[in-house]
Amino acid sequence: MAEIYPVIWEGDRVLLIDQTQLPATLTTVSIATSATMAEAIKTMIVRGAPAIGVAAAYGMYLGAREIAAPQRTVFLAELEAIAHTLRSTRPTAVNLFWAIDRQLTTAHQTPGDPDAIRAALLTEAQAIQADDLQRCQAMGDHGCTILPPSPEKLTILTHCNAGGLATAGYGTAVGVIRSAWTAGRLGRVFADETRPRLQGAKLTAWECVQAGIPVTVITDNMAAHCMQRGMIDLVVVGADRIAANGDAANKIGTYGLAVIAQAHQVPFYVAAPFSTIDFKIATGAEIPIEERDPQEIYQVGETRLCPEGAEFYNPAFDVTPAALIAGIITEKGVFPPDQLPQEQT
Ligand code: MRU
Repeated sequence: MAEIYPVIWEGDRVLLIDQTQLPATLTTVSIATSATMAEAIKTMIVRGAPAIGVAAAYGMYLGAREIAAPQRTVFLAELEAIAHTLRSTRPTAVNLFWAIDRQLTTAHQTPGDPDAIRAALLTEAQAIQADDLQRCQAMGDHGCTILPPSPEKLTILTHCNAGGLATAGYGTAVGVIRSAWTAGRLGRVFADETRPRLQGAKLTAWECVQAGIPVTVITDNMAAHCMQRGMIDLVVVGADRIAANGDAANKIGTYGLAVIAQAHQVPFYVAAPFSTIDFKIATGAEIPIEERDPQEIYQVGETRLCPEGAEFYNPAFDVTPAALIAGIITEKGVFPPDQLPQEQT
């Protein structure tokens, strides 16, 4: 399978795979300014926590290119404004803030004039991207160590899309799935469709098909039934932000999945790089939860599903308490959620 990279540096601009068009069309959008990068993150052309981080890192470089001021102090002040615009796109995935902060640190620590800083920002964006790809591959290896012993090939259920499209490439939860497939331990993936944006049905299923991995798409409300029937051996999902105590925010519906997994003694794992762990917050209660346009619920394509006069609530993420998580699969190994080593990310 040809590897899928959602963010590609093209020498003077960024190409993003337009994830709103998949699986019907594999097409890219050309991004040459920080404003269009911010808009692409907001509208989910690029989505998934680590991929948003990589995109924002390039957004910082594109923004630095737009600043005309030759004086270092003015340049750095204007770069803060670009950072503010990129930060305000999506609130939950901490990788966004992590990557922007890393770029601001790079800018402040690079001696010299704006040209020197611009060059350092591009190098750093490329390093963040290359580093995320390596982290995902390491997560895949570590993930293979927690696969339950079984003479049969395993069935793994996942939610949303934590694949190559959601990262620099390879994926976190889907990275574990891919490594399990390569190791000959995986028989099939069950992909929750993931209402309302359908990342599971559209993106995870597409990635599995591309990789030749057998995949069955179910609606979100079918997972309990499948577990009750003994059809699922393991759940692996990604994360958008993990608190210091191991509580993990991920796509809405993840928490419910963890509850039903526990009810059926199905191990529930989270796969995420250390860039997704926010040691500054103690528990998941502090994680900001994005609320999106209610239209995502009441409309499919051009068709309105719900009556005028109804009200809607559309949180994009929920928080799974650490107590429901068997382990957090990271690039440094697999940890009990309450024993995450507080290391530099
Ligand atoms: O709203 P999205 O599509 O950006 O949400 C993505 C998820 O919730 C993923 O599971 C998470 O970012 C992990 S991606 C490796």
